[in-house]
This record gives sequence, C-alpha cells and structure tokens, in this order.
Amino acid sequence: MSTPHQYTLFLPCPRGLEPALADELRGLGSSTLRVLDPVPSGVPVRGTLDDVMRMNLYSRIPSRVLLNLAAAPVAHADDVYRLALKQPWSTWFDASRTIRVDVTAEHSPLESLHFAALRAKDGVCDHFRLRGQERPDVDREHPDVRIHVHLSATQALLYLDTSGEPLFKRGWRTAHGGAPLKENMAAGLLRLAGWTPQSLLFDPMCGAGTIAIEAACVACQVAPGLQRAFGFERLAGFDQEAWRAMRAEAQALRCPPPFPIMASDIDPRMVQLAQENARRAGVENAITFGQADVMDATAPATPLPGQAAYLVANPPYSERIEAKGRASDDFLPRLGDVLKQRFTGWNAALLLADLQGDRALRLKPARRHVVYNGPIECRLFTFSLVAGRPQRKPAEHPAVNQSAAERLPR
Ligand SMILES: C[S@@+](CC[C@H](N)C(=O)[O-])C[C@H]1O[C@@H](n2cnc3c(N)ncnc32)[C@H](O)[C@@H]1O
Repeated sequence: MSTPHQYTLFLPCPRGLEPALADELRGLGSSTLRVLDPVPSGVPVRGTLDDVMRMNLYSRIPSRVLLNLAAAPVAHADDVYRLALKQPWSTWFDASRTIRVDVTAEHSPLESLHFAALRAKDGVCDHFRLRGQERPDVDREHPDVRIHVHLSATQALLYLDTSGEPLFKRGWRTAHGGAPLKENMAAGLLRLAGWTPQSLLFDPMCGAGTIAIEAACVACQVAPGLQRAFGFERLAGFDQEAWRAMRAEAQALRCPPPFPIMASDIDPRMVQLAQENARRAGVENAITFGQADVMDATAPATPLPGQAAYLVANPPYSERIEAKGRASDDFLPRLGDVLKQRFTGWNAALLLADLQGDRALRLKPARRHVVYNGPIECRLFTFSLVAGRPQRKPAEHPAVNQSAAERLPR
C-alpha cells in the first residue's frame, strides 16, 4: 500500500487560542499528523486527507481546515489569476460545482482585495474553459466549493477550504439571543481555563448556553462535527467509505458525563434558549439549568476531595448591564465579592472586554490570556480562589448542593 500523501494545511482560529488549538490537535492521536509551531491567527500542520476529515470532525477550536494548494510571489492581481489558472482544480471538483472565492490580506501591496478575488475566480473558471468545459458558477451563499486566497506582503497562498461552513457552526444553534460566544471560542476558553470533564463546571451567566454546551459535548464525547456537513464531502479524492466509518466511530463514543455541568442566567428567556440549544446539541441531560442572579449565587456543588471546580463565564458587556438599570462600574466589584466569599476553593475564568477587569473585580489573577472575541480585544482572567476561611466539609458525591439545586431545576 502506498504511503498517503502529506498535505500542508492551515487551521485559522480566534486570536489568542493558537496554543490551545495546537494542544488540541496534538491530542487527536493521529500518527500521520504533524502539528507545527502556531503563528498569529492559526496553526499550520502537515497531514493526510484522513487527518483532514479527523480534524474537521473532532477539533473544536479552529474556524476552518484549509488545504494549501500553492504559494507564489505576487505584485499584481494578474499574478493571482496566473496562480489560480495553473492549479489542478479538475482533480478536486468538476465544472458543475458552484464556487466562492474569499481573499484575506496582511500588508499586501494589492489595492483591491475584491479585484484580487475576481481574478482568482477567473483563473479557476478559465482552468475549466481551457479544457473545453463550462465555467463553474459562483454562489456566494451556498457554494459547493470554497477557495481562499491569503495575500501577504510578497506572496499569495491559495487554499481549498475543506470545512465549508465555518467550524464554529456545529449544527445545533438556531436562534441567537443576546451576545453568544462562538462555539470554538467557548471551547478554547474552557481549555485555557484548565477545565477537564473530571472537574466541576458552572457558568452563572450562561446566556445561550454556549460554554456549558461545549463542555457537555466534551464530557459526553460528542464530536463537534457530528451534526453537520463539510466541504470535503463535495471534493474528489476523499475516501467516502473511510468518512462513513470515522463518523460511525465518533457516534459510538458518546457517553454520559462523569459529572453534571451547571448553568444559570438572570434572564428566564436566556435559560429557556440555552435549554433548547442543549436539547438540539443532544446534551440536555448533562446540564443542570437554573434561573438566578449571579449576585445571589453560591457554589452549586461541592467538589469531591481532590477534584477541581471551575466557574467559567463571560459577564455582560457594560452597556447591557446599564440597560438592566445597574451601574456598570458596580457589577465587577460585586461579582468579585461573590467569588471571594462564596466560591472558596474554586477556580474562576472570566472573559472580559475590560482589559483591567481584574482590578475592578479586586482579585489577583493567576493568568491573563490575551484573546480576541471577533474583533474585540479581551482578556481571559483566571483566578484561583484560595481558601481565606475554613473549607466546607466535602460532600460524599459532587452532587448539586441542596440549596443551589432548588434554584437549578433540571
Ligand atoms: C455576554 S452574555 C453571555 C453569553 C454566553 N456566554 C453565550 O455564549 O450565549 C452575558 C449574560 O449575562 C446575563 N446576566 C446579566 N446580568 C446578570 C446577573 N446579574 N446574573 C446572572 N446573569 C446575568 C445576561 O442575561 C446575559 O445572558
């Protein structure tokens, strides 16, 4: 049997999550996958088409899995055309497929990215026309094949997008309420926070439930790609039989969570939305939901001896706090008091757009991770809420505490 071809791939991700993504990829357990050093906004890897399927199916943090076809120096949009023209597109798809070309750039000398995208599209279409075939149609909304061009100061990198829709779209979210985190961002935050399924987890400002649902999917071994389709399914060269087997293997991994995950929000409509999202993600039984003001929160469960417990959340942005009639500068100090007084022994990780939010919380962070929530520079502050007063007697089981359970109905 011939050795499978190794491709150069690039997995973009939200800025700040690159090391977490590299860790996640190393943990996929593929002997053919070589994870290279992260660069700003993503992780380059070398891997086979089997690895491409595996990363799309199992990896939670990347936005896409891009397969690098070529790189060449560019000084003009026509160089992009020539680069696109000479790629062997017909080995990947035929002219009946619809296409879309996206261009990103960093310090590129090219003036118009739109024109560069047009020239790349012309190059792809002329590849087919020169072979006596129709030109593939462009479909901006639901293309069969997505092509990415990245322009740097000196060169163009041409990629086939093997993911299709971005990977944060797991296939379970319908209505967006409030300001939900993207699923890949929530997965990255959980990893940066240090949470594992053997620890307790509580998100007391859960909104649409993204953090709790991602955690529940990790705990229940629900692969993030099980409920969606991928771009590579429409490309030639991928082993459809191997893909069916890989999906079936992933389905068989599902298991109950080792420990319940807890989530609440002050807004009953958000709790309902989060529950609905959890149901659609297939993990409603893994999460205990409730409606409560975080300012009234107590630790909703007691960890077993030696077990870690994590509170992970992204508190509301100040204008939303103000909309609820609260003074925005009051929220974080009060939240800091709640953490200090009622979450002794827990770890907390809070994503804040306030870059000095730790000062407002009046807590000394263990780490300050620089992360970008879309274009917004944020910090993920992690805190170890060490005992300032005697520890409560540990419970026999890390069951949801009685008093908290009353506010966290299943
Ligand atoms: C930025 S959103 C969280 C988004 C969430 N991580 C998601 O992915 O959907 C902040 C949430 O905090 C909630 N919230 C605001 N004040 C609160 C309070 N005092 N107690 C509990 N939740 C609160 C809001 O209702 C909102 O859903």
